Amino acid sequence: MKLGLAVVAGMAVLFGSGQIAAAADGKAVYDKSCGGCHNAMAPKLGDKAAWGPLAKKGTDALVASVVKGKGAMPPKGGAASSSDADIKAAVEYMVRQAK
Ligand code: HEC
Repeated sequence: MKLGLAVVAGMAVLFGSGQIAAAADGKAVYDKSCGGCHNAMAPKLGDKAAWGPLAKKGTDALVASVVKGKGAMPPKGGAASSSDADIKAAVEYMVRQAK
């Protein structure tokens, strides 16, 4: 059990540093942590009508909503191990898809 926890912690460290290197890969973060909801429900990926007004709020405001959670969306979309930079990359990816 202790060993198992150490392995999990080690992976988290590895994964964490990998995430910093890949922080700009919004699509990867989106596919892993956000698509489960946003491929199917509003604001849906690529839905210009839904994202137009959101994009106007600005990326920082959207990132702040995601980090805190909003309505049915849990904080960080439930991906608690994501860094704020990952969330930002995912939000930027989502906003780009609706342009
Ligand atoms: C459990 C389902 C779920 C997951 C997972 C999820 N979202 Fe959401 N998201 C929602 C729902 C529902 C809303 C609408 C919230 C509202 O307006 O009440 C929302 C709203 C948003 C908004 C608009 C926020 C605003 O200020 O109006 C953004 C941006 C967003 N999500 C990005 C993300 C990102 C990025 C991820 C992955 C890190 C993610 N979501 C994961 C369900 C989810």
